[in-house]
Amino acid sequence: MTDAPTTPKPEKGGDSEPVPYAGPERVFSGVQPTGNLHLGNYLGAIKKFVALQHRHDCLFCVVDMHAVTVWQDPKRLAAQTREIAAAYLAAGIDPSKGVIFAQSAVPAHAELAWIFNCVARMGWLNRMTQFKDKAGKDKERASVGLFVYPTLMAADILVYKGTHVPVGDDQKQHLELARDIAGKFNLDFAAPGFFPLPEPLIKGPGARVMSLKDGSKKMSKSDPSDLSRINLTDDADAIAKKIKKAKTDAEPLPDSVDGLANRPEAQNLVGVYAALAGKTDAEVLAEFGGQGFGAFKPKLADLAVDTLAPMAADMRRLMDDPAEIDRVLASGAAAARDIAEPVIADVKRIVGFWG
Ligand code: AMP
Ligand code: TRP
Repeated sequence: MTDAPTTPKPEKGGDSEPVPYAGPERVFSGVQPTGNLHLGNYLGAIKKFVALQHRHDCLFCVVDMHAVTVWQDPKRLAAQTREIAAAYLAAGIDPSKGVIFAQSAVPAHAELAWIFNCVARMGWLNRMTQFKDKAGKDKERASVGLFVYPTLMAADILVYKGTHVPVGDDQKQHLELARDIAGKFNLDFAAPGFFPLPEPLIKGPGARVMSLKDGSKKMSKSDPSDLSRINLTDDADAIAKKIKKAKTDAEPLPDSVDGLANRPEAQNLVGVYAALAGKTDAEVLAEFGGQGFGAFKPKLADLAVDTLAPMAADMRRLMDDPAEIDRVLASGAAAARDIAEPVIADVKRIVGFWG
């Protein structure tokens, strides 16, 4: 980012090299409770969370405050929050290893977001492509919250001094902004190394799962066609049907990754297979190169059903017993508050707030 600071240059810390963050590593990520959790959310985000919990301190948030940047039916929002928590648990997150909680249960997110609204520049936010996509043609009618969505996201991560953030490829720009905000806060308030510059964890198969109906569009919760995505709650028949109907071209699968160029639908299905199987695209093509989609699709459907069906069954079981989910969310919120409160107390002191 190149915007000149609009704040006076601080006396200390301003001209020196940025001081590296010396605190512990911590993983933070979030998913919005906006319905239709799909294969892209699983492969791009939740599957990575499960792997990370064994090696790091982790917090996995249900970001209900982000969800309300576009209208949500209040009667459904809490149920959708429980559904994401159920998906985290069903995917294999152990709440004693990764803290599972709802964003709105920890007031420090909103407190830090306000300060970050005063650190971030209009020019930075104006460049955010997700706002442009979500606001559509009529920006005047978009909520102010939708515009400042990325400053709340930066606060989510930094109120825990999060250092690593597993997300899908579509969140890359927001994470660059979070790094810029952290850097500018440290500089403006002469607090070198106070916030870490959080690192995105994006790479790997599944970082960008595309629509089953159009290989140029990402798989999305809001696509009007249900055939475009595999929902985490789909049963085996629905999964098999959607894969059978997925758009493809007429050629057989190539023998090498180069042969996937300009074949977005083939590339997507191979990528999904690779991500589900824990293989590379090249390994998948070594197995299936030369075969047509008539042979490949049933194999992909079996693999998807084997992975997703037990998860869907577990999600249904958990949703039938919301008390268990509520217990997880309540103890997660308490654990999250314990980490966030000293950080927000330090921030208030650094900024010069009373008290
Ligand atoms: P959201 O549903 O927008 O809250 O997204 C939750 C997580 O899923 C984020 O880390 C996104 O980057 C990721 N994600 C969403 N859609 C996709 C997709 N089509 N492919 C890969 N990751 C995705
Ligand atoms: N913006 C993310 C998405 O739509 C969700 C999110 C909110 C998030 N806060 C976060 C992701 C903090 C990672 C870290 O997918």
